[in-house]
Amino acid sequence: MHRLFQSRKLGWGLVLSLCLSILCLSLFITSPIKAQKTLKFATEPTFPPFEFQGKNGELVGFDIDLIQAIGKAADFQVQFQNMQFDGLIPALQAKTVDAAVSAMTITPERQKAVDFSRPYFKAGLAIAVKANNQDITSLKSLQNKRIAVQIGTTGALEAKKITGAKIRTFDNAPLSLQELLNGNVDAVINDAPATLYAIKQNNLKLLKITSQLLTEEYYGIPTPKGSPNLEDINKGLTTILNNGTYEQIYRKWFNAQPPQLPETTTIDNATSSINTITIISNALPNLLKGVVVTLYLTILCGFLGMIGGSLIGIARLSSITPLRWATTAYIDFFRGTPLLVQILMIYFGIPALVQGFGIKFSLNPFTATVLALSLNSAAYIAEIVRAGIQSIEKGQTEAAQSLGLGAVETMRYVIFPQALRRMLPPLANEFITLLKDTSLASVIGYQELLQEGRLIIANNYRSFEIFATVAIIYLVLTLLSSRAFAFLESWMNPVNKSLKGG
Ligand code: ARG
Repeated sequence: MHRLFQSRKLGWGLVLSLCLSILCLSLFITSPIKAQKTLKFATEPTFPPFEFQGKNGELVGFDIDLIQAIGKAADFQVQFQNMQFDGLIPALQAKTVDAAVSAMTITPERQKAVDFSRPYFKAGLAIAVKANNQDITSLKSLQNKRIAVQIGTTGALEAKKITGAKIRTFDNAPLSLQELLNGNVDAVINDAPATLYAIKQNNLKLLKITSQLLTEEYYGIPTPKGSPNLEDINKGLTTILNNGTYEQIYRKWFNAQPPQLPETTTIDNATSSINTITIISNALPNLLKGVVVTLYLTILCGFLGMIGGSLIGIARLSSITPLRWATTAYIDFFRGTPLLVQILMIYFGIPALVQGFGIKFSLNPFTATVLALSLNSAAYIAEIVRAGIQSIEKGQTEAAQSLGLGAVETMRYVIFPQALRRMLPPLANEFITLLKDTSLASVIGYQELLQEGRLIIANNYRSFEIFATVAIIYLVLTLLSSRAFAFLESWMNPVNKSLKGG
């Protein structure tokens, strides 16, 4: 009994000292560093002077300096993450980032989806036109004109209100200005400070902005709804507004005295309560429009690719050496470079190049997309055709020739029909790839299915429902196509035919 008591006492002592040492150890480990929290800020880095890549690829800009200063003032570390502009609010809703900084205007619609900091910058929209343009001076004069905008921006919303305007939507503001330079649109609606900076920095003497601002807007730092970090961000922002740091940063980028900022903008507290079914059914008409465009593109480019690919595939088997080389080079190029790059090159690069020689030339998004997709798929189809033809035994050619058929007739009546049947499965693959690849046309603002979806999200911020619907639609389309090809394959199978026939 006594012994037991003693050992129990010993046991307690051991536990106590163990606890103490753990406590000391943890104090020792944590105290010198005093964990500073790190906040992840999403940004769309093609918006000078607010956020863009510096000479060495680092992020620079007014917003970047501002966030660093706020972090210092409110004692948190900052990490940036690049993103598309229309992905910022969805990312905040999904809480994959802690905040965003992207010259984002505080609007009532956005306030339904995210919480904004106090305003940190005063801006407004302006119309950019070619320097020699005299007739576009106001919103009114933009009626029935072609306008380029950046997806998901206040500029895009403003453009939508103009009657008869043909709007082209791009992933970033520089692309929309390029579009204006190339003469594909009559105007760009964008934030005035950003457009002015682009004109000045890049010496775009060909462009100017109209004198009157269309709107008065305030930028804010959006955070997820109910974010615990908003208070720190606001505290830091207030500190640097009061201690002169803000003014310093403002002077650095704008070379001017900063304007007075309000402490708040009107807060719209209504949260959106529209349910999933309504969201999807509201989106369906526009998505279906996108489906029609996507199918049309796929069939047209598949058809053109098939013609081009067959010719190239046959030419590759030719005995004329230069022809073989040329077709090999063609295939290597179009298979070896990303389709996205090809689309951008055809749409933006080639017109810019041609215009460099003083020739007026432009491509619309449709033509550019059809060109890129057809040229690209022709390269793949050429290989399918070549392999298909080569897979037919030599004996077939010999037999055809011994029957007196010429080279072209042999190809047309003997080799090609047999080869086609073998080519069907890889052609089906190519068709399905093509169908999905049409979504890349969204980068040049072509309104196919994906772009329709992104435009809807840019207005309602319901990324999950819309992207899921878009994905399901693509899936249905590809499943239907693969069924159709399977049917075609069995229909073309002579064994099946003779079974049914006999
Ligand atoms: N202020 C405008 C808006 O909130 C445009 C911002 C664009 N920002 C950017 N980083 N691309 O819609």
